[in-house]
Amino acid sequence: MTEQDFIPKSFKNTLDKGSFTWSSPSNIALVKYWGKKKNQIPEIPSIIFTLDTCRTTTMLSFSRKQSDEHFSFEVFLDGKQKDDFKPKIDTFFKRTETYLPFLKDYHFKIETSNTFPHSSGIASSASGMSALALCLMSVERSFNEAEMTNEFFNQKASFLARLGSGSACRSIEGDLIVWGNHKKIYGSSDLYGVKYPFQVHDNFRNYHDTILLVNKGEKQVSSSLGHNLMHGHPFAQERFKQAHNNLSKLINVFKKGDLDAFIEIIESEALTLHAMMMTSLPYFILMKPNTLEIIDKIWTFRQQTGLHLCFTLDAGANVHVLYPESEAEKIFEFIQNELVAYCQNGHYICDRIGFGAKQL
Ligand code: DP6
Repeated sequence: MTEQDFIPKSFKNTLDKGSFTWSSPSNIALVKYWGKKKNQIPEIPSIIFTLDTCRTTTMLSFSRKQSDEHFSFEVFLDGKQKDDFKPKIDTFFKRTETYLPFLKDYHFKIETSNTFPHSSGIASSASGMSALALCLMSVERSFNEAEMTNEFFNQKASFLARLGSGSACRSIEGDLIVWGNHKKIYGSSDLYGVKYPFQVHDNFRNYHDTILLVNKGEKQVSSSLGHNLMHGHPFAQERFKQAHNNLSKLINVFKKGDLDAFIEIIESEALTLHAMMMTSLPYFILMKPNTLEIIDKIWTFRQQTGLHLCFTLDAGANVHVLYPESEAEKIFEFIQNELVAYCQNGHYICDRIGFGAKQL
């Protein structure tokens, strides 16, 4: 598929008004997307676990208006008007207008809510932008019902979500999604996420992700700014090669269910992401002292027990503790007894691998 394939030819029967609701999950990257080219094209492929509990629900209502050169929309979070969300959505509409040529023909009301607290330091851009993209795809499908396959619907939703936020294109389906061209992964694309096409061992079924909320404040450095700092970064080329290699290695790890090899790749990816931040110019550190305390405790506990828990990090201080279902009881007990003390107000979220967005 190319960009051209996502430009609709004509609509059979447009509606005057209507509304659609989607609930879309967040996702956690195993191989991390960090660095992008023009038009939201990633420098490297990434692979993620779709999450289950952390979700955004968005209801999009649309009513026909006089078409002019402006987008017309209002945004609400938990019932309250959120004008500070508008610039990001306006950019998203500008980037997607070619593919959704009806955007200026309607007034949109976007009503959204998250299952996780807004100020939890968990990015809502992946779940939020994917939910909005799915709602817009439902609008498009309602104009041309018979002709759209589910496969196209999901692919275009992912393609649109990417234009809102890169990580959002990986939140349409589950449970393992790859985004970005990788020579060993057939069908992988820079334009949208695809389901991981190879065998995955039962060890990875129902994998847990307990998210420890170390710092619930707003990020000091936005992801977009961070991605840009990879341009001309002294270690960028090596990092890009490493991400390709790590994804290649994971193919065998998933097939064999090799948890030790999994842990090594996942923790190395998390630390490399933060190493890129610390070695860019300007440099910055998003981890907090408690992030390091938690990592240290995880390493000690793993060494003492041989259990297969590991950590990963996003662009923030929160720690995602990943572990297999078969060891969940003991590991969760450890998390409660030893790690929760390092969370802000003792807050954490129990999540696990999930299966994608749902229409409500
Ligand atoms: C560190 O998707 O938030 O979480 O495309 O600029 O919206 P934009 O960036 P975003 O970047 C996420 C980066 C990351 C790693 C990852 O999720 O792969």
